[in-house]
Amino acid sequence: MPVIAIDGPSASGKGTLASRVAESLGFHYLESGALYRLVALASMRAGISESDEEPLAGLSARLDARFSAGGIFLSGEDVTEALRGEDIGNLASSVARLPRVRAALLERQREYRQAPGLVADGRDMGTVVFPDAVLKVFLTASVQVRAERRYKQLIDKGIGANLASLSRDLAERDERDTKRAAAPLVPAPDAVQLDSSDLSVEEVVRQVEQMARRKLE
Ligand code: DC
Repeated sequence: MPVIAIDGPSASGKGTLASRVAESLGFHYLESGALYRLVALASMRAGISESDEEPLAGLSARLDARFSAGGIFLSGEDVTEALRGEDIGNLASSVARLPRVRAALLERQREYRQAPGLVADGRDMGTVVFPDAVLKVFLTASVQVRAERRYKQLIDKGIGANLASLSRDLAERDERDTKRAAAPLVPAPDAVQLDSSDLSVEEVVRQVEQMARRKLE
């Protein structure tokens, strides 16, 4: 079953890109970051510290997560909005450093590989989870551009935001995701690297769709 892997740092636009490509190909879509965010949210609620690997791995293995067109559900509760916050993103990045948490989520991610195919986005889709993906894209953009995009998204939603602190948080998250020992954020050797700093969403989607269709012919 073909997989298209789209990896990249926070706010690079990989989620929008992956969901648009999945829709146009009629493929399933896996937002792997949401699984790490669910672990972060569940751990916060359970009062487990971000460095307590054993209980966090147990929680990850038992996670009652459901993705549907209507939203993302944790033990039956719609947590779509709760997952979006920067605090949850930062905590997700911390728990994602733990090898046993990653191991607990590995098979679960692979189960999304179903007919007619899958588009998966994250940090290690092309390197660890789906190393045999037919197409691997590594999407980047400068910290400045990503912070501005995130700022605009938040302001449009009526959520207060500060550009300088968003920029600082993104740089910190990049550092943590890139430098960690377990499945760090690095392009797979066979990934196509795309810098979206000066490209519109439409242009990036168009380029990746073209590449995907060529690979799937
Ligand atoms: O894609 P995102 O920003 O929602 O992901 C949140 C955090 O989860 C990210 O900072 C690192 C972690 N993550 C990961 O380690 N591996 C993935 N495949 C996806 C996300």
